[in-house]
Amino acid sequence: MKIVIYPGTFDPITNGHLDIIYRALTLFDKVIIGILLNTNKKPLFTTEERLEMIEKSIEGIKNIEVKTFDGLLVNFADEMKASAIIRGLRQVSDFEYEFQMALMNRKLNENISTVFLMPNEKYTYLNSSLIKELARFKADVSDFVPEIVNRKLKEKFL
Ligand code: COA
Repeated sequence: MKIVIYPGTFDPITNGHLDIIYRALTLFDKVIIGILLNTNKKPLFTTEERLEMIEKSIEGIKNIEVKTFDGLLVNFADEMKASAIIRGLRQVSDFEYEFQMALMNRKLNENISTVFLMPNEKYTYLNSSLIKELARFKADVSDFVPEIVNRKLKEKFL
Protein backbone atom coordinates (compact mmCIF):
# COMPACT_ATOMS: atom_id res chain seq x y z
CA MET A 1 0.00 0.00 0.00
CA LYS A 2 1.56 3.28 -1.11
CA ILE A 3 0.81 6.03 1.38
CA VAL A 4 1.66 9.69 0.83
CA ILE A 5 1.55 12.72 3.12
CA TYR A 6 0.31 16.09 1.88
CA PRO A 7 1.49 18.55 4.56
CA GLY A 8 0.73 22.21 5.03
CA THR A 9 -0.83 24.91 7.11
CA PHE A 10 -4.11 24.92 5.17
CA ASP A 11 -5.22 28.28 6.55
CA PRO A 12 -7.57 27.73 4.77
CA ILE A 13 -7.61 24.88 2.24
CA THR A 14 -8.16 26.14 -1.32
CA ASN A 15 -9.23 24.58 -4.61
CA GLY A 16 -5.54 24.60 -5.52
CA HIS A 17 -4.78 22.28 -2.60
CA LEU A 18 -7.73 20.07 -3.58
CA ASP A 19 -6.44 19.90 -7.15
CA ILE A 20 -3.12 18.55 -5.83
CA ILE A 21 -4.96 16.06 -3.59
CA TYR A 22 -7.01 14.67 -6.51
CA ARG A 23 -3.84 14.24 -8.55
CA ALA A 24 -2.09 12.50 -5.64
CA LEU A 25 -5.02 10.07 -5.33
CA THR A 26 -4.38 8.84 -8.87
CA LEU A 27 -0.77 7.99 -7.96
CA PHE A 28 -1.01 6.64 -4.42
CA ASP A 29 -3.29 4.21 -2.59
CA LYS A 30 -3.86 6.59 0.29
CA VAL A 31 -3.34 10.31 0.90
CA ILE A 32 -2.94 11.60 4.45
CA ILE A 33 -3.38 15.36 4.74
CA GLY A 34 -1.13 16.58 7.57
CA ILE A 35 -2.01 19.89 9.19
CA LEU A 36 1.04 21.39 10.87
CA LEU A 37 0.17 22.44 14.42
CA ASN A 38 3.01 24.69 15.46
CA THR A 39 3.67 26.92 12.53
CA ASN A 40 5.50 30.26 12.56
CA LYS A 41 2.51 31.63 10.75
CA LYS A 42 -0.32 33.09 12.80
CA PRO A 43 -3.28 31.19 11.41
CA LEU A 44 -6.64 32.92 11.04
CA PHE A 45 -8.46 29.64 11.62
CA THR A 46 -7.95 27.38 14.63
CA THR A 47 -6.68 23.86 14.08
CA GLU A 48 -10.20 22.52 14.68
CA GLU A 49 -11.66 24.89 12.10
CA ARG A 50 -9.00 23.96 9.52
CA LEU A 51 -9.58 20.28 10.20
CA GLU A 52 -13.34 20.65 9.83
CA MET A 53 -13.04 22.64 6.59
CA ILE A 54 -10.77 20.00 5.08
CA GLU A 55 -12.98 17.13 6.23
CA LYS A 56 -16.07 18.75 4.71
CA SER A 57 -14.19 19.53 1.47
CA ILE A 58 -13.16 15.91 0.95
CA GLU A 59 -16.41 14.31 2.15
CA GLY A 60 -17.21 11.14 0.21
CA ILE A 61 -13.73 10.77 -1.27
CA LYS A 62 -12.15 7.42 -0.56
CA ASN A 63 -8.57 6.66 0.50
CA ILE A 64 -7.98 9.96 2.20
CA GLU A 65 -7.49 10.94 5.84
CA VAL A 66 -6.79 14.19 7.69
CA LYS A 67 -4.46 14.36 10.69
CA THR A 68 -2.58 17.02 12.61
CA PHE A 69 1.11 16.78 13.33
CA ASP A 70 3.83 18.52 15.24
CA GLY A 71 7.58 18.26 14.99
CA LEU A 72 9.44 16.99 11.98
CA LEU A 73 7.50 16.11 8.87
CA VAL A 74 9.65 13.06 8.13
CA ASN A 75 8.89 11.66 11.60
CA PHE A 76 5.19 12.08 10.98
CA ALA A 77 5.54 10.43 7.56
CA ASP A 78 7.43 7.56 9.12
CA GLU A 79 4.78 7.12 11.82
CA MET A 80 2.08 7.02 9.15
CA LYS A 81 4.11 4.44 7.18
CA ALA A 82 4.21 6.82 4.23
CA SER A 83 6.84 6.43 1.54
CA ALA A 84 6.46 9.92 0.11
CA ILE A 85 5.55 13.55 0.69
CA ILE A 86 3.57 15.52 -1.87
CA ARG A 87 4.24 19.18 -2.48
CA GLY A 88 2.59 21.39 -5.04
CA LEU A 89 4.74 23.46 -7.36
CA ARG A 90 2.81 26.46 -8.59
CA GLN A 91 5.56 28.50 -10.15
CA VAL A 92 9.32 28.68 -10.45
CA SER A 93 9.48 30.85 -7.33
CA ASP A 94 8.23 27.89 -5.24
CA PHE A 95 11.11 25.79 -6.43
CA GLU A 96 14.06 27.04 -4.39
CA TYR A 97 12.35 26.64 -1.02
CA GLU A 98 10.80 23.31 -1.98
CA PHE A 99 14.10 21.98 -3.32
CA GLN A 100 15.83 22.85 -0.05
CA MET A 101 13.10 21.20 2.04
CA ALA A 102 13.02 18.09 -0.14
CA LEU A 103 16.76 17.58 0.13
CA MET A 104 16.82 18.24 3.86
CA ASN A 105 13.95 15.81 4.39
CA ARG A 106 15.80 13.20 2.35
CA LYS A 107 18.90 13.77 4.43
CA LEU A 108 16.78 13.23 7.56
CA ASN A 109 15.12 10.11 6.19
CA GLU A 110 16.47 8.48 3.05
CA ASN A 111 13.36 6.29 2.70
CA ILE A 112 10.92 9.13 2.21
CA SER A 113 10.83 10.83 -1.19
CA THR A 114 9.28 14.16 -2.09
CA VAL A 115 7.02 14.17 -5.13
CA PHE A 116 6.13 17.48 -6.78
CA LEU A 117 2.82 17.94 -8.54
CA MET A 118 1.66 20.91 -10.55
CA PRO A 119 -1.88 22.16 -10.02
CA ASN A 120 -4.13 23.21 -12.88
CA GLU A 121 -2.78 26.50 -14.23
CA LYS A 122 -5.90 28.36 -13.05
CA TYR A 123 -4.67 27.83 -9.48
CA THR A 124 -1.01 28.70 -9.95
CA TYR A 125 -1.36 32.21 -8.53
CA LEU A 126 -3.34 31.17 -5.45
CA ASN A 127 -2.20 31.05 -1.87
CA SER A 128 -4.09 31.12 1.39
CA SER A 129 -2.91 34.63 2.37
CA LEU A 130 -4.26 36.10 -0.84
CA ILE A 131 -7.62 34.41 -0.29
CA LYS A 132 -7.82 35.80 3.25
CA GLU A 133 -6.96 39.28 2.06
CA LEU A 134 -9.63 39.18 -0.64
CA ALA A 135 -12.20 37.85 1.81
CA ARG A 136 -11.30 40.54 4.37
CA PHE A 137 -12.20 43.15 1.75
CA LYS A 138 -15.37 41.26 0.83
CA ALA A 139 -14.21 40.21 -2.64
CA ASP A 140 -15.80 37.08 -4.07
CA VAL A 141 -13.49 34.10 -3.55
CA SER A 142 -16.02 31.39 -4.41
CA ASP A 143 -14.07 30.35 -7.54
CA PHE A 144 -11.00 29.59 -5.43
CA VAL A 145 -12.21 27.80 -2.32
CA PRO A 146 -14.63 25.01 -1.38
CA GLU A 147 -18.14 26.10 -0.33
CA ILE A 148 -17.50 25.49 3.38
CA VAL A 149 -14.39 27.70 3.30
CA ASN A 150 -16.26 30.46 1.50
CA ARG A 151 -18.90 30.34 4.24
CA LYS A 152 -16.38 30.31 7.09
CA LEU A 153 -14.46 33.24 5.59
CA LYS A 154 -17.65 35.27 5.39
CA GLU A 155 -18.37 34.48 9.05
CA LYS A 156 -14.83 35.57 10.08
CA PHE A 157 -15.03 38.86 8.24
CA LEU A 158 -18.64 39.84 9.00
N1 COA B 1 -2.88 25.91 -4.05
C1 COA B 1 -3.02 27.03 -3.36
N2 COA B 1 -2.14 27.45 -2.45
C2 COA B 1 -1.10 26.68 -2.22
C3 COA B 1 -0.88 25.47 -2.90
C4 COA B 1 -1.82 25.10 -3.86
N3 COA B 1 -1.72 24.00 -4.58
N4 COA B 1 0.26 24.93 -2.44
C5 COA B 1 0.75 25.76 -1.52
N5 COA B 1 -0.07 26.81 -1.38
C6 COA B 1 0.12 27.98 -0.53
C7 COA B 1 -0.37 27.75 0.85
O1 COA B 1 -1.73 28.09 0.95
C8 COA B 1 0.52 28.67 1.63
O2 COA B 1 0.00 29.97 1.57
P1 COA B 1 0.30 31.03 2.73
O3 COA B 1 1.80 31.14 2.84
O4 COA B 1 -0.34 32.25 2.23
O5 COA B 1 -0.33 30.46 3.98
C9 COA B 1 1.83 28.62 0.86
O6 COA B 1 1.48 28.25 -0.43
C10 COA B 1 2.82 27.57 1.30
O7 COA B 1 2.44 27.00 2.47
P2 COA B 1 2.14 25.48 2.82
O8 COA B 1 1.94 24.58 1.68
O9 COA B 1 1.09 25.49 3.87
O10 COA B 1 3.48 25.11 3.35
P3 COA B 1 4.17 25.78 4.55
O11 COA B 1 5.34 26.42 3.91
O12 COA B 1 3.32 26.61 5.40
O13 COA B 1 4.49 24.49 5.38
C11 COA B 1 5.57 22.39 5.78
C12 COA B 1 5.40 23.62 4.91
C13 COA B 1 4.41 22.14 6.69
C14 COA B 1 5.68 21.26 4.81
C15 COA B 1 6.89 22.62 6.55
O14 COA B 1 6.81 23.80 7.31
C16 COA B 1 7.21 21.47 7.48
O15 COA B 1 7.51 20.38 7.03
N6 COA B 1 7.18 21.70 8.79
C17 COA B 1 7.44 20.66 9.79
C18 COA B 1 8.81 20.84 10.43
C19 COA B 1 9.88 20.24 9.60
O16 COA B 1 9.90 19.05 9.31
N7 COA B 1 10.84 21.08 9.22
C20 COA B 1 11.97 20.66 8.44
C21 COA B 1 11.68 20.81 6.97
S1 COA B 1 13.10 20.44 6.02
